[in-house]
Amino acid sequence: MIKIKERLFEPYIGEHEILERVTFLAKKIENDYAAKEPLLLAVLNGSFMFMADLSKAINIAVEISFMKITSYQGLHSTGKVKEIIGMTESVEGRDIIIVEDIVDSGKSMAYLLKMLQSLNPNSIEIASLLLKTTAMEENFNIKYLGFEIPDLFVVGYGLDFDGFGRNLNQIYRILQN
Ligand code: IMP
Ligand code: MG
Repeated sequence: MIKIKERLFEPYIGEHEILERVTFLAKKIENDYAAKEPLLLAVLNGSFMFMADLSKAINIAVEISFMKITSYQGLHSTGKVKEIIGMTESVEGRDIIIVEDIVDSGKSMAYLLKMLQSLNPNSIEIASLLLKTTAMEENFNIKYLGFEIPDLFVVGYGLDFDGFGRNLNQIYRILQN
């Protein structure tokens, strides 16, 4: 059990199980992209640990990049506007693999897909460590999926609760009370 900001979390998916699954996904990517030069594009902050373990288990040359999706209040607009920062590579004609920690409603991913598609890559696939199937509202395929989980709040292995818990080497779920 671990306490983060007065909430209790219990172990859910262990380190060994995660690494086994991540390695399996890496081997799939290695096979599928053997003749290509893929660009692994991680969505910060949550996917930093997944990206590290995944990429280390891929034994072909890949390019790695990180970016961030931010929401900001436009100066003269009323709605929240999403913006992608940190992406400097040209993605035109590239084979992109988006690396995400978790897909919940799918809204963030749907936005990202739309934005990347407009930059004319050759292909886009998704690698996500976790998927909350119960919450998924959008319709896209996650080719490289770690684990499907119910609609429970989880932390660890990159995922945070209010900024904390990303360092934990396994995944914990919130204790219901
Ligand atoms: P979506 O747009 O609803 O799919 O939101 C996905 C984002 O919400 C993820 O990239 C996470 O940053 C965050 N998120 C969703 N569920 C959890 C969770 O259980 N723990 C930590 N972060 C989560
Ligand atoms: Mg995230």
